[in-house]
Amino acid sequence: MNDGRTIPQLGIGVFQVPPAETARVVRDALEVGYRHIDTAEMYGNERGVGEAIRDSGIAREELFVTSKLNNGFHRPDEARRAFDQTLAGLGTDHVDLFLIHWPLPTRYDGDFVSTWETLTEFQRDGRARSIGVSNFQVEHLRRLADETGVVPAVNQVEAHPYFQNQAVREANRAAGILTEAWAPIAKGRVVEDPVIAKVAADVGRTPAQVTLRWHLQRGDIVFPKTTHVERMQENFAVFDFELDDAQMQAITGLDEGPTARTGPDPETFDFLG
Ligand SMILES: NC(=O)c1ccc[n+]([C@@H]2O[C@H](COP(=O)([O-])OP(=O)(O)OC[C@H]3O[C@@H](n4cnc5c(N)ncnc54)[C@H](OP(=O)(O)O)[C@@H]3O)[C@@H](O)[C@H]2O)c1
Repeated sequence: MNDGRTIPQLGIGVFQVPPAETARVVRDALEVGYRHIDTAEMYGNERGVGEAIRDSGIAREELFVTSKLNNGFHRPDEARRAFDQTLAGLGTDHVDLFLIHWPLPTRYDGDFVSTWETLTEFQRDGRARSIGVSNFQVEHLRRLADETGVVPAVNQVEAHPYFQNQAVREANRAAGILTEAWAPIAKGRVVEDPVIAKVAADVGRTPAQVTLRWHLQRGDIVFPKTTHVERMQENFAVFDFELDDAQMQAITGLDEGPTARTGPDPETFDFLG
């Protein structure tokens, strides 16, 4: 990352993992070999993540844990309280990466800049080793750079074969920001795709594996979500084969643009739950 720290390029995400199941899911993932976990205050399952980390006996320095500031807490004092809650929930004294979950440009009088400045405090005091943003559009990144001079380490955005989010990926790259691709397998849609099935058959892998491999070769960071241990193993086995240029291009050719978003448009999303 642009702050000199490193991040595992593959992890596991726990969006929509029920709180009561989260400790089991993360324990299984750690057992499979995952060392990077992506959670958020909004997911309501930071406690389960923390429980699994403690139970695992794995040294904290070997793990990379990301969480995110919830939408209702962008004002600086609320962000400070929310971050305390995140650390208390996880039961750790630091996170490896803390993100503003959504820019909410139609809320808080359009001010996500003071929220970003508050995250820089958490980095200075060592409780967030790295800081970044999520769902930020090109214009939002420009404002952070112009008004604070502090460039996020990552921008976590929706990206998969059907919605590749190319303008944001390019802005990230130009600014030295790593792209984290959320919904990397388009929430399972890739499993039904004939083009991806052909690439998968040609390399003797599954559709999820070749899609994750496509992301990795493009340089993006991914953390597919699954509650099933067999799928955790499948999604983890993506470092012992490669896609050639034609196979990469076949998947890149599937882009349908913003109509293929699986989630909300960051320009208008304003949910404060
Ligand atoms: N920053 C944001 O706003 C934001 C938004 C959304 C997601 N995220 C992050 O990104 C992570 C991943 O995104 P996502 O969960 O939305 O979507 P995803 O990882 O693209 O897809 C998850 C879905 O695919 C299924 N699946 C997983 N592995 C599979 C495999 N090998 N074969 C077939 N199906 C498989 C899962 O089912 P089972 O669980 O039943 O196996 C689940 O239904 C999240 O967990 C979260 O950490 C961030």
